[in-house]
Amino acid sequence: MAEEIKEDVYWIGVDNPQGRDFHGVSTPRGGSYNSFLIVDDKPAIIDSTNKPFIKEYISSLKSKIDPLKVAYIIINHVEPDHTGAINQVLDECKNAKIVCTEKCKEFLISGYYIEREFVVVKENDEISLGKKTLAFYMDPMVHWPETMLTYAKEDKILFSGDLFGTEVAHEALFADEMRPFAELTRDYFAIVMRPFAPAVKSAIDKVNKLEMDFLCPSHGPVYRKDIDKIIGYYERLAVDPEEDKILIVYYSVWHSSQKIANQIAQSIIEQGFNVVMYNLADCNMIEVMAQAMTSKGVAFGSLTILGSYHPMFDALFGLLRFINQHQSKKPALVFGTYGWGSASVPKLRQKIEELNYNIVDEIDLHWGPKKDDLTAIHEKGKKLVEEVQKWK
Ligand code: FEO
Repeated sequence: MAEEIKEDVYWIGVDNPQGRDFHGVSTPRGGSYNSFLIVDDKPAIIDSTNKPFIKEYISSLKSKIDPLKVAYIIINHVEPDHTGAINQVLDECKNAKIVCTEKCKEFLISGYYIEREFVVVKENDEISLGKKTLAFYMDPMVHWPETMLTYAKEDKILFSGDLFGTEVAHEALFADEMRPFAELTRDYFAIVMRPFAPAVKSAIDKVNKLEMDFLCPSHGPVYRKDIDKIIGYYERLAVDPEEDKILIVYYSVWHSSQKIANQIAQSIIEQGFNVVMYNLADCNMIEVMAQAMTSKGVAFGSLTILGSYHPMFDALFGLLRFINQHQSKKPALVFGTYGWGSASVPKLRQKIEELNYNIVDEIDLHWGPKKDDLTAIHEKGKKLVEEVQKWK
């Protein structure tokens, strides 16, 4: 259902409150694919929608305008959550030209076999809609190579694509009317934005030069208040995401590695640091990945199984590749247990070093911690905190 942002500017997007997965991110509060309509002498649509939602989208569009009157379809980003239904949208908007970057044009033609007139734009290009002017700024790799930002100059509205998004369904159009959702923004950022952190920072530097009354990302709510807060949060996640906490992740079958994890946690807490702890057998992997991104140190531990650590760690290590390329030697503690041959700790060490961590110490115990081991584990937790305090 279309909703007014301000006079002649409408949200015509789609909510998916039942959606529970996006890019592998668990989305407990659903998702949204935002699109916007600017009514003027030459009306424009900003982005379109995800294919399964085409009927709802067209109904929303038609509630505000005859699609034959649409002059421009602006494509900020070609990923299918915003263009999956582009051919059906073009069928309705028979007179619309597509406005996008050269790279986006290339992708649209090769991906969707589109034969429509294109208006290719570059940095600082402008298009007049009549009373309103759209300006375009390039932000490649936020999140794909073809991405751009669209700015409605007179209305001071930035249509930012994936940038500043959160995968959450609208409880309300505006962020200031929603329940808090910062953790969902963090998880979305970890998987969608963190691999491209330098590009995100460059885009934010451009955005900070614009005056804004409204910020309209392509996922999640529209911002009309405290716009600087979401921009600042994104900038922090791109540049300096760590908080005063240490992440502990373990896999344990007979509770031995879990006992070590608990003892490390107790030691860290006694040093005045916060701990977030996950059992890999029962967790949301993307949340663990986002916690790794926002922690100042980590402790990873596993029992030995089939000559290595538990294979669940391989899934986590794959995800950590998304976040760790822009991280420098974050302190890590490795721990594990074994029955008849120590293997988990040496293999964990190797993987964790490849992921750009600095291993400050290790704990490798036969069967598990005995009473005498607890003091040593406690000391190693203390050492991790000391190294974390020196880091950065
Ligand atoms: Fe919302 Fe990169 O797509």
